[in-house]
Amino acid sequence: MTYDVLNAGTHSEYSVVMKIRAVLFDAYGTLFDVHSVALLAEQLFPGCGERLSLLWRDKQIEYTRLVTMSGAAGEHYRPFWELTRAGLQFAAARLGLKLDPASEDRLMSQYRHLSAFPENREVLAELQRRRIPAGILSNGDPEMLAVAVRSAGFTELLQHVISVHPVQRYKTDPAAYALGTAAFGLPAREILFVSSNGWDAIGATWFGYTTLWVNRTGAPLDPLGTSPSHTGRSLRDVLALFPAPASAAPVPAAAGPGHPAA
Ligand code: LAC
Repeated sequence: MTYDVLNAGTHSEYSVVMKIRAVLFDAYGTLFDVHSVALLAEQLFPGCGERLSLLWRDKQIEYTRLVTMSGAAGEHYRPFWELTRAGLQFAAARLGLKLDPASEDRLMSQYRHLSAFPENREVLAELQRRRIPAGILSNGDPEMLAVAVRSAGFTELLQHVISVHPVQRYKTDPAAYALGTAAFGLPAREILFVSSNGWDAIGATWFGYTTLWVNRTGAPLDPLGTSPSHTGRSLRDVLALFPAPASAAPVPAAAGPGHPAA
């Protein structure tokens, strides 16, 4: 048993949670900062970078839902990379921006090399030190994820990098979340699913994962009657859910003159 320090004082003084044996991270928005493209967007379209980046993200996610909900697995599926490009094209058109092929390619290339949030590497390294297996479960297609993980230097820190691509259904479809339990061979409640996307944290909670919503922006909770198991503000809050390993037992002092046995 561990104690939920993050929710202490909100739900109950200490809500008892199940033992968590592994951690699964969402990728885009959680490990990788999708709005880091706003800087380049601002250079290309002064005054519109942030709006372009926000609408781009919204349309990208909307398209994942559209293709997943509109038929059997695979019927309308297109890889995340293509939906990302479609989202960019729509967002630019909606804002009346002329997106020439060179600018489109530059923005897409930037998306491929998104920055990781600064605390992430240290948190992944600490999980490894505490022997908690960690992985990614993402809508991203395998190639996008491979590049992002490599660029961020996370390769050695992750046991699984799972894309929904094999099931051709995007989160929040249960078939997508089930890839995580299958990979770790653990029940969902024994895996901590971490996402900065409120909708993803709720979808994962409905699936059965123990969840941590890393609410970096102080966004309101989607008022759908379900709260994530835990809420935090940065990836560091993951570590509060895992007790630090007991520090090495002190080396006993040698008995003898000047060294009384304890
Ligand atoms: C992902 C998107 C949802 O990485 O951010 O799955």
